[in-house]
Amino acid sequence: MSNNLLKGKRGIIFGALDEQSIAWKVAEKCHEQGAAITLTNAPVAMRFGKINELGEKINAEIIQADATIIEDLDNLLSKSQEILGGKIDFILHSIGMSLNVRKGRSYTDLNYEFMQKTFDISAISFHKLMQCALKQDAIQEGGSIVALTYIAAQRVFPDYSEMAESKSLLESFARSFGYHFGTLKKVRVNTISQSPTMTTAGSGIKGFQEFFDYANKMSPLGNASAEACADYCVLMFSDLSRMVTMQNLYHDGGFSNMGMNPAILNM
Ligand SMILES: NC(=O)c1ccc[n+]([C@@H]2O[C@H](COP(=O)([O-])OP(=O)(O)OC[C@H]3O[C@@H](n4cnc5c(N)ncnc54)[C@H](O)[C@@H]3O)[C@@H](O)[C@H]2O)c1
Repeated sequence: MSNNLLKGKRGIIFGALDEQSIAWKVAEKCHEQGAAITLTNAPVAMRFGKINELGEKINAEIIQADATIIEDLDNLLSKSQEILGGKIDFILHSIGMSLNVRKGRSYTDLNYEFMQKTFDISAISFHKLMQCALKQDAIQEGGSIVALTYIAAQRVFPDYSEMAESKSLLESFARSFGYHFGTLKKVRVNTISQSPTMTTAGSGIKGFQEFFDYANKMSPLGNASAEACADYCVLMFSDLSRMVTMQNLYHDGGFSNMGMNPAILNM
């Protein structure tokens, strides 16, 4: 059902790889709520993912960009404004990848070149994106920028490995850039800390299914689905959340405030 919460707004959505991707659901919901958007992903995802299907479905142009490369981001921002016909109202950063996790390196035996690449893809790309957008003056006053994160930024989840530090960095960029973007352009910047979700990135983590079940039992409302996350993103892109900025917003069915749930003892 549409309430046209994003009617007349222009957005850029990073990270839709396949129908499991959180970004895929966000793109669908933004379209449903009246926004015009462009989709973007890394060149390799264009070959292996299904982003073209999504583009056709919601009538969105696809602009390829490696989020670690400034020229790609500049091109994405200027092309998106051209295609959509004006400044951008909202952006979703939905990017995460750990080379050490992918290569099976344990946390006490990390390769530091991999680690730097992981930080670049999963966190520094967010700063790069905002810096390019600010320099181009590409974001509409009152605009909203959101990145997706995970509670391993605050608490220890051993199998999340170096992605924990990536997410801490990402959340810190949201606060610090949020100050500058807010002061200079009245643009808000937030992170949404999402429940474990069955996606390509999520299921790359060791023991993900068991952990998914644990979090589901621990949370009074159960795990938040990708669809529910997409609804929350729509709210954050809409004018209804216009005074919220520099926050890390938990979207996790209550998990983050739990100590122990008796339901866990019965597992
Ligand atoms: N799945 C979960 O359990 C979960 C929980 C909390 C937060 N998140 C976060 O949600 C976001 C989206 O992940 P997802 O679970 O939908 O998985 P996903 O695998 O569908 O999405 C990750 C995306 O990052 C893209 N990407 C990787 N390298 C890139 C690069 N250099 N440039 C541009 N794009 C690049 C991939 O192509 C992919 O589309 C990530 O930030 C992830 O950490 C996921």
